[in-house]
Amino acid sequence: MNRDKKSGQGIDLEKNGSGGESVARDKAARSRREFLANSAGLAVAAAIGGLAGSHSLSAHESAARASATKSAAYASALGRPRRIIIDTDPGIDDAMAIFLALRSPELKVEAITPVAGNVPLDLTLPNALRLVEIAERTDVPVAAGASQPLLRRLATAGHVHGVNGLAGVDFPEPKTKPVHETAPELIRRIVRENPGEITIVAVGPLTNVALALRADPALASVIPAIVIMGGSLSGGNMTPAAEFNLYVDPEAARIVFDAGIPLTMVGLDVTRKCLVSEQHIKQLEAANNPVSQAAGKILRATYERMRHGGEVTDIALHDALAVASLIDHDVITRKDYYVEVETVGEWTAGQTIGYDGHAPVRKSPQMETSAPEPSPAEIPYKPNAQVAVAVDPARFFHLLISRLTGSPI
Ligand code: BDR
Ligand code: CA
Repeated sequence: MNRDKKSGQGIDLEKNGSGGESVARDKAARSRREFLANSAGLAVAAAIGGLAGSHSLSAHESAARASATKSAAYASALGRPRRIIIDTDPGIDDAMAIFLALRSPELKVEAITPVAGNVPLDLTLPNALRLVEIAERTDVPVAAGASQPLLRRLATAGHVHGVNGLAGVDFPEPKTKPVHETAPELIRRIVRENPGEITIVAVGPLTNVALALRADPALASVIPAIVIMGGSLSGGNMTPAAEFNLYVDPEAARIVFDAGIPLTMVGLDVTRKCLVSEQHIKQLEAANNPVSQAAGKILRATYERMRHGGEVTDIALHDALAVASLIDHDVITRKDYYVEVETVGEWTAGQTIGYDGHAPVRKSPQMETSAPEPSPAEIPYKPNAQVAVAVDPARFFHLLISRLTGSPI
């Protein structure tokens, strides 16, 4: 199993302190072989170092979970801003998500934790710092996260987000520095210091969140909610099966989906319907504030690339919809599902499989003839996620553009 280690900025899962890179690579290859040879659940348990894939809560943790949920609900009933950590890989739609959150009084952003994803960590980290500077919110701590997925080689999406992750727009080098804690450490500390108060909004590969849970499995019981942009019940955008964030780190996603945290999955089923138009970009460009101007530049550059035959054909603001769903609950419609994350499929890794509780429901055939047959009672169809199944795109864009421009439209 890989061990995470701080290496300059971020956590390099490929290296370890004792034996150098080749040992680490051998270990990674061994983990991978073990992963393929074993059942998915065992492999995930190995990847996270002892937290079983389906982590069942102790009585103490269940009580903590109930109180966490109550505490978050209580805060929102009192009209207090919802406290969130944004785990992200900026990324053009990540940038819109961060701007939306930072400019919405319904949310209090406690930290931003970049991870490798759309582009490597050495770009997502400074991009996050740039975005807080543009929004004049350098009070929000930014902590460097994982530079590699738990087990796999990093796959990026520079073809969508441009070489620098922000559509190639040349924003100045950030002056602000990341905090000294790593992203998983910061997530863990803030959540532990505020049990039941901190919602995680994860809009990148789930490596950082999985690492925080691996370090502290009972953390799940004091996280009242996690909103994930990722997954799809209607086909992927990286492979026919898998959405990008799940594709990049399926093992991390599986850990998070199985952790027992009340989860909302805002996947491609809805985000693909939130497409930017020329009119939206013009509205952003017309407003005279740094956030709106920066957002306009990023989207204009993406739009131009698209028009000149780039690989992107539509600009969907996936991540901003996940944030919007916390500001305006009714921008999406949710439905209970039990969601499994595919981790062993050779062509389908990262796929999300949703069971809505209606027959016929069967798990995949087991991988080995010698595996004991599960009894129907062991097949867990209890919902683990609310999946966004419908969206009101006009309502979403109204919210986004009015918050970024600072004026009602
Ligand atoms: C997701 O993948 C990334 O490219 C986007 O930022 C978004 O989080 C959409 O599949
Ligand atoms: Ca993202």
